[in-house]
Amino acid sequence: MISGKASRPYPILLNPFDIRECLNLDWIFPLKQPTELELGSGDGAFILHAARTNPHHNFIATERLLGRLKKIDRMASRAQLHNLRAVRHEISYLIRYLIPESSIHRIHVYFPDPWPKKRHARLRLIRPPFTRWVARILEPGGCLFTRTDDPAYAEQIRLVFAGDPEFSPIPTPQMLSDYKTEFENHWNKLGIPTNYAAYQWFPLAYPKG
Ligand SMILES: C[S@@+](CC[C@H](N)C(=O)[O-])C[C@H]1O[C@@H](n2cnc3c(N)ncnc32)[C@H](O)[C@@H]1O
Repeated sequence: MISGKASRPYPILLNPFDIRECLNLDWIFPLKQPTELELGSGDGAFILHAARTNPHHNFIATERLLGRLKKIDRMASRAQLHNLRAVRHEISYLIRYLIPESSIHRIHVYFPDPWPKKRHARLRLIRPPFTRWVARILEPGGCLFTRTDDPAYAEQIRLVFAGDPEFSPIPTPQMLSDYKTEFENHWNKLGIPTNYAAYQWFPLAYPKG
């Protein structure tokens, strides 16, 4: 059960909450509609834009740094975004244990920490068990969108998803690639291009057509 402060009926920043129970999406959002999840939201530029421009979807921002979450909270409150919630938590625990099964329509992972040194590559978020964590929370047909400026991480992402037969590569919709995150603008200005990748998930036993 979530115990967000009761000053608003639906607090944007869900903190603290009980880490032993799954988030109850029906409880945290006023409307039942497709839910999108961003992993590592930073200052929230993408998810605030997405929530503002897609009022018929719900959005969850996740981030470990409280200062960044407070900024998202402030901006979302000011814009009266009823379809955005923010969670302070470590991403892998959150997606393994706290997001309900088959509950997420789309996942966004933009500029995950690259851990560029070879000996640190095992710390990257997108590594072999990641596709299984994501498969648990996506609804059938659900998609994941990623971006990175790091070519080695881009190759790791490609290999990780290629190793899971339940995921198929799909094009990144232009509506998404047209929107640049803060990190993306920063790197692009320095001449470093963005590597985009997107995947759709269907369980192997899913009935075809
Ligand atoms: C490089 S920034 C990218 C931010 C944003 N996605 C963007 O494109 O502007 C990565 C963000 O992920 C957060 N982060 C990294 N690892 C995390 C983890 N394991 N759990 C929660 N947040 C994490 C960091 O605090 C940081 O804000």
